[in-house]
Amino acid sequence: MLKITNLRCEYLRNPLGVRALHPRLSWQVESNQRGFVQQSWHILAATEHELLDSGRADLWDSGLVQGAEQVVELPALPGDGERVWWKVEVRDNEGGAVWSGEAWFETEFPEKNWEADWLGFPGNWPGSALRFRKAFTVKGKVKRARLYAAGVGWNELWLNGRRVSDRVLDPPQSDYAKRIYASADIVEKLLRQGENVLGVRGGYGWYGTVRIKAHLRIEYEDGRVETVTSNANVINNWQVAQDPAILQSVYGGEVFDARLDDQFWCTPGHSTESWPRAQYMGGPGGKVESTIMQPMRVRRNMLPAALSQPKPGVWVADFGQNQAGWVRLRVRGDRGRRVVLHFAESLYEDGTVNQENLHRAEVMDTYILKGGEIEQWEPSFTYHGFRYVQIDGWPGEPGREDLVACLVCTEVEDAGSFASSNELLNRIHELVRQTELSNLPSIPADCPQRAERMGWLNDMAARSEELMYNFAPDRLLAKWMADIADAQDELGRITDTAPFHWGAHPADPVSVCYLLDPWLIYTHMGDKRLLEERFQGMRAWVDFLAGERQDGLVHYSYWGDWSPPAGRPVSPPEGDSPINSETPGALVSTACLAYSARLLSQIAGVLGRKSIAAKYMALFEEVALEFNAAFWDEAAGGYGKNNQSANAIALYMGLVPEDRLLSTAENLYQRVEEADFHLKTGNICTKYLLEALSQTGRSDLALRIALQKDYPSWGYMLANGATTLWERWEKATGRAMNSHNHPMMGSVGSWLYRWLAGIRVHPAGAGFSRFSVNPEILDGLDWVKASLETVKGRIRVEWERRKGTLHLLVEVPVGSQAEIGIPCAGWGVIREGRACIWKDEAPGRPAAGLISLERMGPRVRVRTGSGVYRFQAEL
Ligand code: BGC
Repeated sequence: MLKITNLRCEYLRNPLGVRALHPRLSWQVESNQRGFVQQSWHILAATEHELLDSGRADLWDSGLVQGAEQVVELPALPGDGERVWWKVEVRDNEGGAVWSGEAWFETEFPEKNWEADWLGFPGNWPGSALRFRKAFTVKGKVKRARLYAAGVGWNELWLNGRRVSDRVLDPPQSDYAKRIYASADIVEKLLRQGENVLGVRGGYGWYGTVRIKAHLRIEYEDGRVETVTSNANVINNWQVAQDPAILQSVYGGEVFDARLDDQFWCTPGHSTESWPRAQYMGGPGGKVESTIMQPMRVRRNMLPAALSQPKPGVWVADFGQNQAGWVRLRVRGDRGRRVVLHFAESLYEDGTVNQENLHRAEVMDTYILKGGEIEQWEPSFTYHGFRYVQIDGWPGEPGREDLVACLVCTEVEDAGSFASSNELLNRIHELVRQTELSNLPSIPADCPQRAERMGWLNDMAARSEELMYNFAPDRLLAKWMADIADAQDELGRITDTAPFHWGAHPADPVSVCYLLDPWLIYTHMGDKRLLEERFQGMRAWVDFLAGERQDGLVHYSYWGDWSPPAGRPVSPPEGDSPINSETPGALVSTACLAYSARLLSQIAGVLGRKSIAAKYMALFEEVALEFNAAFWDEAAGGYGKNNQSANAIALYMGLVPEDRLLSTAENLYQRVEEADFHLKTGNICTKYLLEALSQTGRSDLALRIALQKDYPSWGYMLANGATTLWERWEKATGRAMNSHNHPMMGSVGSWLYRWLAGIRVHPAGAGFSRFSVNPEILDGLDWVKASLETVKGRIRVEWERRKGTLHLLVEVPVGSQAEIGIPCAGWGVIREGRACIWKDEAPGRPAAGLISLERMGPRVRVRTGSGVYRFQAEL
């Protein structure tokens, strides 16, 4: 069996609006032959389906190319808005050959071709969303129609009374003065002969007012091309009206007056003479460009787990899961009745909702009934973070099916799965996943509920790797890197949040994600493009930080290892600082400069810029020396105040000289023991603590920390009803900063994959072309099952301990080689399937797919090609 699957362009399936000059085409290969190697590939790309079908590649015929690559750049330049059909053939060296099915993509239709202007409306309905409409005529057989649009803050596109797509909260947010993302839709099926109506609903979103820009391009069978655009010349043909979303804002919620909802507002033939004309208004200033990431959609619908009535006429729905989004309701009642929904993460004793921790956000939706029929509604221009919703004004008693929680999220694909014999670990894994799903609204956000919801760079120092294991966030992160770059100034300074709304400028030096995210995308996907695109910006940031040093140290720090345990398990008082007073800010900032310099050096190395790589490696070493000179405490044998955070960050970032390694590690173990095997770390150093313990051989300690059930721990959150991660290790519900849906403490999520399943990309095997599998077989765990979708295909690791024998299954995708470390005592025996592959401290019988075996300390390292392997070893 030989099969080609998962054809992608720019890592997306049949995307529209591809902006890259040389789009990357990729595929995966499935074969049941172990150690399968793709010998050659052959791509055909054509502008018409029929041409490709008949093998006439008018765009590109690569010819048969020797090589195992599965990501290839299209050298040809397709025209604007053009569709490209492509397929690929793969051959092995034994005469096997197979063609893929067909895939396609369409290129960007750039703004310069739109002939469109920004439309808006000055004034009459402050706070209200707007409806725009434009009637036009279609005469003749339509071959193809595309709608390109860029409405800010958020827009919904309609044609002839129907939604054009199920995207929500679109377009992705950005610094609108710098760039604005455009959508592209295939719309020929929505058109009809004669009169048609294009409609746009516009809401404030993150822009704070409404602007729309649209270009509809209709190609007829007879070769005619007609356009319908928001052009100033024909502006008088665009009409505008107040939308029934008469008040709407991100934090405040939406008031929807269904009495104003003319359902035919965008239906042909409907009279809208009273509508005023839309007006030409200035745009936000940024360049419109096609979006390069997946849109946001409703990802899950959920009915309430329970409904209660804490007071007469007041209902509370408990969805049993904290999440981001809104509630879709179905209701029947009198015209003009107001149903008000108040969203919250916790309840008061009396069963009503507690909104104290939401700060200025009102998080309230109001639906004013039209009356008569059953009405169904969900908001379009807001979202909330909630587990509970309190309903005032419901006519009668709501049924469970009348209230549906809709989870809204950027459509990232799932990448990983993890399960183990320990239920607490499984619950922690799910806690992390659910938190991420609530916090990807086109940026990696800190929280979904209070008046904040920002893309904090410091949090991403800890989250990024976990995101890469659980989901495929690469397009979202590539877009977010543009957000960071847009906020960067000419001095190289980046900002605490991107797009920049909040926090400091320059950012806290812990913002290593500017380098780390492109690096992770490179190591996990083999994708160098982001490294190239962001290189100058990353370098300018490192240079800026290096220039900030005084006496060799970066002293400035705002957050450092933010929000460590406060020392008591319940609500910290309002105003209580979550800054880690035990870990000096300068220590964290200086360590992060060193780490960033080393990342930059590695990146320069990958890009072949040797002298720059050497320069930043030298900077790393220089800063490491200064770090040691300033923070090493000889008497204590540790760093700073010799706490967990300081020792862990020094170890993780490679700042500890060889001769201090053992004592620093020993010291860290003691700090963990002294805390009765609990963590004392904040958002940043929690990751480094678990990693440093495992890297120095004490995964058992990391597991003990992870499995705690009392304060401070993930188990403590779960024991207290958490369904998403908390912002603080304490249980808090008051006004003090305490979000209940905050991903920054979730770095344990990547630790599970990296150490318990043992799946780690090899330093020289970018894109998982090489990876290691070194599962830690620890007391208290009987089995682990994990999988990871990579650019090459699925990796699977499943181990189980049964009667003194370790059973280990490893699946290696085509295009990858695995280095599997199998625990094996001296003179032990290892089998693969029926073959005894290791015996008497030497390789035994050969088995298909195995490349080599050698002893590496307490493990035997087995190198394999692709395939599914089943090992057994005596423990
Ligand atoms: C955000 C955090 C962030 C912190 C400090 C808070 O307001 O919610 O996620 O880490 O500020 O930067």
